[in-house]
Amino acid sequence: MKNDVERIFFSKEEIQKRVEELGEQISRDYEGKQPLLVGILKGCFVFMADLSRALTVKCDIDFMAVSSYGNGTSSTGAVKIVKDLNADIEGRHILIIEDILDSGITLNYLRGYLEQRKPASIKICTLLDKKARRSADIQADYCGFDCPDAFIVGYGLDYAEKYRNLPYIGVLKPEIYS
Ligand code: IMP
Ligand code: MG
Repeated sequence: MKNDVERIFFSKEEIQKRVEELGEQISRDYEGKQPLLVGILKGCFVFMADLSRALTVKCDIDFMAVSSYGNGTSSTGAVKIVKDLNADIEGRHILIIEDILDSGITLNYLRGYLEQRKPASIKICTLLDKKARRSADIQADYCGFDCPDAFIVGYGLDYAEKYRNLPYIGVLKPEIYS
Protein backbone atom coordinates (compact mmCIF):
# COMPACT_ATOMS: atom_id res chain seq x y z
CA MET A 1 0.00 0.00 0.00
CA LYS A 2 2.72 2.49 0.90
CA ASN A 3 4.34 1.95 -2.50
CA ASP A 4 1.29 3.69 -4.01
CA VAL A 5 1.97 6.91 -2.04
CA GLU A 6 3.83 9.65 -3.88
CA ARG A 7 4.16 12.19 -1.08
CA ILE A 8 3.24 12.47 2.60
CA PHE A 9 1.59 15.78 3.54
CA PHE A 10 0.92 15.15 7.24
CA SER A 11 2.84 12.52 9.17
CA LYS A 12 1.41 10.30 11.89
CA GLU A 13 3.23 12.39 14.52
CA GLU A 14 2.05 15.73 13.14
CA ILE A 15 -1.54 14.51 13.07
CA GLN A 16 -1.34 13.14 16.59
CA LYS A 17 0.03 16.42 17.94
CA ARG A 18 -2.61 18.52 16.17
CA VAL A 19 -5.45 16.25 17.30
CA GLU A 20 -4.28 16.62 20.92
CA GLU A 21 -4.32 20.42 20.53
CA LEU A 22 -7.82 20.37 19.02
CA GLY A 23 -8.95 18.14 21.87
CA GLU A 24 -7.71 20.65 24.44
CA GLN A 25 -9.32 23.59 22.65
CA ILE A 26 -12.68 21.83 22.24
CA SER A 27 -12.62 20.62 25.86
CA ARG A 28 -12.14 24.21 27.05
CA ASP A 29 -14.92 25.54 24.82
CA TYR A 30 -17.41 22.83 25.81
CA GLU A 31 -16.66 22.78 29.54
CA GLY A 32 -19.86 21.69 31.33
CA LYS A 33 -21.82 21.22 28.08
CA GLN A 34 -21.73 17.50 27.18
CA PRO A 35 -21.65 17.90 23.39
CA LEU A 36 -22.97 15.34 20.96
CA LEU A 37 -20.23 14.46 18.49
CA VAL A 38 -21.73 13.64 15.11
CA GLY A 39 -19.22 11.87 12.88
CA ILE A 40 -19.80 11.82 9.15
CA LEU A 41 -19.03 8.32 7.91
CA LYS A 42 -16.96 6.83 6.67
CA GLY A 43 -14.08 9.30 6.43
CA CYS A 44 -14.37 10.49 10.04
CA PHE A 45 -13.79 7.15 11.71
CA VAL A 46 -10.08 7.43 12.48
CA PHE A 47 -10.13 11.15 13.36
CA MET A 48 -13.24 10.72 15.52
CA ALA A 49 -11.65 7.85 17.44
CA ASP A 50 -8.53 9.90 18.20
CA LEU A 51 -10.23 13.26 18.78
CA SER A 52 -12.88 11.85 21.10
CA ARG A 53 -10.16 10.33 23.27
CA ALA A 54 -8.38 13.70 23.38
CA LEU A 55 -11.46 15.30 24.96
CA THR A 56 -11.72 15.69 28.71
CA VAL A 57 -15.43 16.61 28.69
CA LYS A 58 -18.22 14.03 28.72
CA CYS A 59 -19.75 13.62 25.30
CA ASP A 60 -22.19 11.45 23.34
CA ILE A 61 -21.18 9.90 20.05
CA ASP A 62 -23.32 9.32 17.01
CA PHE A 63 -22.81 8.97 13.28
CA MET A 64 -24.44 9.94 10.03
CA ALA A 65 -23.65 8.64 6.59
CA VAL A 66 -24.23 10.62 3.44
CA SER A 67 -23.43 9.81 -0.13
CA SER A 68 -22.33 12.43 -2.60
CA TYR A 69 -19.21 11.14 -4.23
CA GLY A 70 -19.33 7.73 -5.87
CA ASN A 71 -15.86 6.46 -6.63
CA GLY A 72 -14.50 9.56 -8.35
CA THR A 73 -12.38 12.37 -6.97
CA SER A 74 -14.85 15.27 -7.03
CA SER A 75 -18.36 15.87 -5.74
CA THR A 76 -21.42 15.10 -7.83
CA GLY A 77 -23.20 17.89 -5.92
CA ALA A 78 -26.10 15.68 -4.83
CA VAL A 79 -26.28 14.79 -1.11
CA LYS A 80 -28.29 11.84 0.14
CA ILE A 81 -28.68 10.77 3.80
CA VAL A 82 -27.88 7.09 4.06
CA LYS A 83 -27.82 6.84 7.87
CA ASP A 84 -29.49 9.34 10.19
CA LEU A 85 -28.90 10.01 13.90
CA ASN A 86 -30.37 7.64 16.48
CA ALA A 87 -31.35 10.20 19.11
CA ASP A 88 -33.31 13.43 19.35
CA ILE A 89 -31.00 16.46 19.21
CA GLU A 90 -33.33 19.22 20.39
CA GLY A 91 -31.47 21.42 22.87
CA ARG A 92 -28.17 19.58 22.35
CA HIS A 93 -24.78 21.08 21.50
CA ILE A 94 -23.82 19.40 18.24
CA LEU A 95 -20.24 19.13 17.06
CA ILE A 96 -20.01 17.71 13.54
CA ILE A 97 -16.79 15.79 12.94
CA GLU A 98 -15.65 15.64 9.33
CA ASP A 99 -12.50 14.36 7.67
CA ILE A 100 -12.25 17.08 5.04
CA LEU A 101 -14.14 20.17 4.02
CA ASP A 102 -13.87 20.48 0.26
CA SER A 103 -16.64 22.15 -1.80
CA GLY A 104 -18.62 22.36 1.45
CA ILE A 105 -21.76 21.09 -0.27
CA THR A 106 -22.10 18.06 2.01
CA LEU A 107 -21.73 19.97 5.29
CA ASN A 108 -23.83 22.89 4.16
CA TYR A 109 -26.68 20.51 3.42
CA LEU A 110 -26.20 18.58 6.67
CA ARG A 111 -26.06 21.67 8.82
CA GLY A 112 -29.36 22.91 7.36
CA TYR A 113 -30.89 19.48 7.87
CA LEU A 114 -29.83 19.30 11.53
CA GLU A 115 -30.80 22.92 12.28
CA GLN A 116 -34.43 22.02 11.63
CA ARG A 117 -34.33 19.81 14.73
CA LYS A 118 -33.59 22.76 17.02
CA PRO A 119 -30.25 21.89 18.60
CA ALA A 120 -28.81 24.43 21.08
CA SER A 121 -25.81 24.90 18.80
CA ILE A 122 -24.07 23.38 15.81
CA LYS A 123 -20.34 23.65 15.23
CA ILE A 124 -18.06 22.00 12.73
CA CYS A 125 -14.72 20.35 13.35
CA THR A 126 -12.80 19.20 10.31
CA LEU A 127 -9.39 17.63 10.25
CA LEU A 128 -8.58 19.14 6.85
CA ASP A 129 -9.78 22.24 5.06
CA LYS A 130 -9.38 22.63 1.29
CA LYS A 131 -10.33 26.29 1.21
CA ALA A 132 -9.40 26.77 -2.45
CA ARG A 133 -12.27 24.54 -3.57
CA ARG A 134 -15.10 25.94 -1.44
CA SER A 135 -18.33 26.65 -3.31
CA ALA A 136 -20.86 26.57 -0.43
CA ASP A 137 -21.04 29.29 2.22
CA ILE A 138 -19.62 27.34 5.13
CA GLN A 139 -16.58 27.47 7.41
CA ALA A 140 -15.14 25.16 10.03
CA ASP A 141 -15.17 26.26 13.68
CA TYR A 142 -12.25 23.93 14.38
CA CYS A 143 -9.74 22.84 11.76
CA GLY A 144 -6.73 20.57 12.01
CA PHE A 145 -4.81 21.61 8.92
CA ASP A 146 -5.24 23.73 5.82
CA CYS A 147 -4.92 21.33 2.98
CA PRO A 148 -3.46 21.76 -0.51
CA ASP A 149 -5.78 21.39 -3.48
CA ALA A 150 -4.90 17.78 -4.22
CA PHE A 151 -6.82 14.55 -3.81
CA ILE A 152 -5.43 13.04 -0.63
CA VAL A 153 -5.84 9.75 1.17
CA GLY A 154 -5.11 8.15 4.53
CA TYR A 155 -6.18 8.55 8.17
CA GLY A 156 -9.77 7.75 7.16
CA LEU A 157 -9.77 9.32 3.71
CA ASP A 158 -10.18 7.00 0.77
CA TYR A 159 -9.69 6.70 -2.92
CA ALA A 160 -12.34 4.26 -4.24
CA GLU A 161 -12.68 2.91 -0.64
CA LYS A 162 -8.98 2.05 -0.29
CA TYR A 163 -6.15 3.64 1.73
CA ARG A 164 -8.35 4.68 4.69
CA ASN A 165 -6.04 2.69 6.98
CA LEU A 166 -2.84 4.55 6.10
CA PRO A 167 -1.61 6.12 9.37
CA TYR A 168 -0.59 9.36 7.61
CA ILE A 169 -2.11 11.66 4.95
CA GLY A 170 -0.66 11.94 1.48
CA VAL A 171 -1.18 11.88 -2.26
CA LEU A 172 -1.03 8.79 -4.42
CA LYS A 173 1.09 8.36 -7.52
CA PRO A 174 -0.72 9.76 -10.58
CA GLU A 175 -1.01 6.33 -12.23
CA ILE A 176 -3.14 5.07 -9.30
CA TYR A 177 -5.80 7.75 -9.87
CA SER A 178 -6.20 7.08 -13.57
P1 IMP B 1 -17.65 18.36 -0.08
O1 IMP B 1 -19.13 18.25 -0.08
O2 IMP B 1 -17.12 18.65 -1.45
O3 IMP B 1 -17.10 19.31 0.94
O4 IMP B 1 -17.15 16.89 0.18
C1 IMP B 1 -16.56 16.49 1.34
C2 IMP B 1 -16.33 15.00 1.29
O5 IMP B 1 -15.69 14.62 0.08
C3 IMP B 1 -15.39 14.59 2.39
O6 IMP B 1 -16.09 14.23 3.55
C4 IMP B 1 -14.67 13.41 1.77
O7 IMP B 1 -15.39 12.22 2.02
C5 IMP B 1 -14.68 13.68 0.29
N1 IMP B 1 -13.40 14.28 -0.14
C6 IMP B 1 -13.17 15.55 -0.50
N2 IMP B 1 -11.88 15.75 -0.84
C7 IMP B 1 -11.27 14.55 -0.66
C8 IMP B 1 -9.90 14.10 -0.82
O8 IMP B 1 -8.97 14.84 -1.17
N3 IMP B 1 -9.68 12.79 -0.54
C9 IMP B 1 -10.64 11.94 -0.12
N4 IMP B 1 -11.93 12.31 0.05
C10 IMP B 1 -12.24 13.61 -0.22
MG1 MG C 1 -16.39 12.15 4.26
